[in-house]
Amino acid sequence: MKIFVLGGDGFCGWPVALSLSAQGHEVRIVDNQCRRMIDCELGSDSLTPIRPLEERLAVWHEITGREIRWSNIDIARDYDALLGLFRKERPDAIIHLAEQRSVPYSMLSMHHRKSTIEGNIAATHNILAAMVACSLDAHLVHLSSIGVYGYETLGYRVPDGYVKFTMGSGEAVQTREILHPANPVSIYHLTKAQDQLLLEFYNKHEGVRVTDLLQGTVWGTQTPETALDERLINRFDYDAVFGTVLNRFVLQAALGHPLTVYGSGGQTRAFIHITDTVRCIGLALANPPRSGDRMIVLNQVAETQRVIDLAAMISSLLGTTETLFLENPRDEPVSNDLQVSNAGFSKLGFRSKNLGEELLQEIKDVVERYAFRCNKAQIFTRPRSVTTSPSLEIVALPG
Ligand SMILES: NC(=O)c1ccc[n+]([C@@H]2O[C@H](COP(=O)([O-])OP(=O)(O)OC[C@H]3O[C@@H](n4cnc5c(N)ncnc54)[C@H](O)[C@@H]3O)[C@@H](O)[C@H]2O)c1
Repeated sequence: MKIFVLGGDGFCGWPVALSLSAQGHEVRIVDNQCRRMIDCELGSDSLTPIRPLEERLAVWHEITGREIRWSNIDIARDYDALLGLFRKERPDAIIHLAEQRSVPYSMLSMHHRKSTIEGNIAATHNILAAMVACSLDAHLVHLSSIGVYGYETLGYRVPDGYVKFTMGSGEAVQTREILHPANPVSIYHLTKAQDQLLLEFYNKHEGVRVTDLLQGTVWGTQTPETALDERLINRFDYDAVFGTVLNRFVLQAALGHPLTVYGSGGQTRAFIHITDTVRCIGLALANPPRSGDRMIVLNQVAETQRVIDLAAMISSLLGTTETLFLENPRDEPVSNDLQVSNAGFSKLGFRSKNLGEELLQEIKDVVERYAFRCNKAQIFTRPRSVTTSPSLEIVALPG
């Protein structure tokens, strides 16, 4: 298949592009490298050394003989270039990962709120509009977040996308299946909720074949392909804005510092390992909706864990005992329960790899190997909830 990976220079997109190329697909990355520019803006960097994209692609060609092409297009702002590319290349499938993906970044300031709204929603709409404008019958796979449903305890297992809705009384009772209500608690999640309405609209009214994947927090670094050569290594973000909780805990433990837990640590979150992200996207591609089918929505989640339990797991693996409880910068319940069904992916053959010593060892190895590159000031910051100007607060610099 000819497959476009939009956002293919990013943390999820890069291993997805390599995996699809290794399977013999014709892959093209579309990415304007704005994520690398955000690193410059925030003064942060991946713990692992990320080579320029041209070099990554040349190395992939050198060691596998396979070619991945790259188009440098701002999907949110250059509709004409995107349309021109779709018209010329006519891909069979498009994987859309080209969005600003950090919750804290989306809340750093009004400027960041605006850029996240304008970037994410416009990117999704430009893709859908360009597909319709050139009558492109490709399968569009969009990456969303399970966080669109909010962080309150729901009291049931979150189903794959749709719920039965009953309204009325007496003989006028109507039951329909509708999208599970969104309850976004950040600007980032708001964009994903809006994306879903755009996707549903274009699916219903223009016949675009769509799969929306509601993903948990992705952890881990390497996949079989990124591990082939150090120059292909994947990102490892550990700063307070883009670093996710598990990466930060492992790095803090490896450096012998206390683990920084926001609030009580009673927040439950959904997780998935990067190798499972790659596998799930492959499964979604292999099982496209047919023409006229309703948008497919799948929960791309391996498991749920409480933050405090994660901290305990990392402590026992890496031998750190201290935990530093910080005021939670996020507006969310002190604790919550979260149960997510992944019945849809299970039916397609997905068997998740859960957090455990074997997988944590991989991340520990990466952290120990590159700990010398760590900027410690980045670990002990936390985003403030601000409304006007960007701000990172240094919360503690132990030792
Ligand atoms: N990483 C996670 O834990 C996670 C969890 C749930 C959902 N997701 C979703 O998966 C997708 C990919 O996430 P990621 O972690 O790989 O993020 P990332 O920031 O590492 O990668 C996104 C890539 O898209 C590119 N991009 C962004 N806007 C663009 C634009 N307008 N034009 C062209 N390129 C653009 C960036 O340069 C970057 O390379 C996102 O949509 C994100 O919301 C990620």
